[in-house]
Amino acid sequence: MPKRDPGFPSSVLVLGATSSIAIATMRRLAAGNSRFMLVARHSDRLTAVAQDLLTRGAATVDIWVMDLDDTAAHPEMLAAAAERLGKIDLALIAHGVLGDQQAAEADFEIAAAILHTNFISTVSLLTWLGNYFQTQRGGALAVVSSVAGDRGRKSNYVYGASKGALNIFLEGLRNRIDRDGVQVLTIKPGFVATPMTAHVAHNALFATPDQVARGILKAIERRRDVAYLPWFWFWIMLLVRAIPGSRFKKMNM
Ligand SMILES: NC(=O)c1ccc[n+]([C@@H]2O[C@H](COP(=O)([O-])OP(=O)(O)OC[C@H]3O[C@@H](n4cnc5c(N)ncnc54)[C@H](OP(=O)(O)O)[C@@H]3O)[C@@H](O)[C@H]2O)c1
Repeated sequence: MPKRDPGFPSSVLVLGATSSIAIATMRRLAAGNSRFMLVARHSDRLTAVAQDLLTRGAATVDIWVMDLDDTAAHPEMLAAAAERLGKIDLALIAHGVLGDQQAAEADFEIAAAILHTNFISTVSLLTWLGNYFQTQRGGALAVVSSVAGDRGRKSNYVYGASKGALNIFLEGLRNRIDRDGVQVLTIKPGFVATPMTAHVAHNALFATPDQVARGILKAIERRRDVAYLPWFWFWIMLLVRAIPGSRFKKMNM
């Protein structure tokens, strides 16, 4: 695949635009004069993010307030984004919830809510955007998944299942529309210091949102399919995936 044109992406749609990883990524893009359409569910936070991007050099910033769990409202929002931006170069999907694993073990409705936000709502967005980019014959779809989707761990397998299912969906979508010039990027961060992990004791493996943002933009520029971020998670997960199931089930991970 050839490298991107200089200036790509000039028009950016961000779903889950109040996510720390998304904000760090947009800040880097704003310095390059990109135009944005931001979607998130809390209008006050979203307005603050939009203002911040304008002061950092963004050409224009539009906002759309919605709960992304409301899949019935996705087509109207996505059509408005395409109209306002004129042409979408990059769609970054970053919303997600960690959820409460123990509560989800006890109550299917709690497990279903995690799967809905992380997987079902993302499938709804990807269905519309995949067809949009295929018709446009170009663009990039970058989706924040997780290393947690690589293996089912007893401590977070509901969240892990939502991301594992997403990884399979993205792989299949990529195999369908890569030939139309569309990049489908699966982003697999390890631990990142964001509000999502604020309750977890931080260790040396934790990355900053900006480290992950740098990796996301490099992976888009190089038209990668999958990006483990930071890079060392590729090797960690290679080892984790190599542990035989008979042994893995006895481990406290
Ligand atoms: N942090 C990590 O260690 C880590 C590791 C691997 C992957 N990830 C993934 O990275 C992505 C971004 O998370 P983050 O680390 O940046 O954490 P974050 O700052 O807590 O961002 C999560 C975002 O998802 C949004 N969100 C959740 N449900 C939503 C809904 N129904 N509608 C609209 N927005 C919704 C939240 O909005 P509100 O602020 O309005 O609640 C928040 O902006 C997630 O997909 C997460 O699974 C994170």
